[in-house]
Amino acid sequence: MTTAPVRVVLLVGSAREGRLAPDVADWFAGVARRRGDLVLDVVDVARHPLPSDLAADDPVAAALRPRLAAAEAYAVVVPEYNRSIPGPLKTLVDSFQTEWRAKPVGFVGYGLGAAGGVRAIEHLRQIFAEFHCVGMKDVVTFPRVLDHFDAEGRFPAEPERSEAAAKLMLDQLTWWAEALRAAKAARPYGA
Ligand SMILES: Cc1cc2nc3c(=O)[nH]c(=O)nc-3n(C[C@H](O)[C@H](O)[C@H](O)COP(=O)(O)O)c2cc1C
Repeated sequence: MTTAPVRVVLLVGSAREGRLAPDVADWFAGVARRRGDLVLDVVDVARHPLPSDLAADDPVAAALRPRLAAAEAYAVVVPEYNRSIPGPLKTLVDSFQTEWRAKPVGFVGYGLGAAGGVRAIEHLRQIFAEFHCVGMKDVVTFPRVLDHFDAEGRFPAEPERSEAAAKLMLDQLTWWAEALRAAKAARPYGA
């Protein structure tokens, strides 16, 4: 029996001009796309500006809804902003509810400081707990993120360690997604 690839939405979690998020997200997406057990849909918060009043009839939210709902798992690229997550990412999460429900979430964090985005990741883990999500234990982090660019601006400068961390997280993510796929087919969550 063949198993259908897990549908993963990769959330790119910052929106400011000059952001590093695309460097981190492009690297991670490249690692993920080399796997045969998942398919990736990239949702960049910078490309989907959502209203902070969370208007129910917002067309951007309406367009995103089916993509988020179709996901069986999420991976989030998140920088640390003042020991937490960027505002546009929080608005995106707050703009949806049942779409997130009972799915696994993996985290890729970074920041200028030594924490490497861990404080943002741990906040995000708590936020997703509200939606009955399972946060992956192992995370990918880039402490002092500027040190991970080489002289030519390539990221990450030494990919081996980060690729191993990404593999560990994605192995956990796909395990949970496949397990929950089977469990939900047997009995809808919360029913
Ligand atoms: C408003 C703001 C707050 C920040 N706070 C932190 C922080 O608490 N810890 C940290 O390590 N880096 C912090 N940084 C640095 C960012 O993590 C770093 O600039 C990163 O590249 C931001 O992601 P982005 O380039 O995708 O926007 C902060 C940056 C901004 C803009």
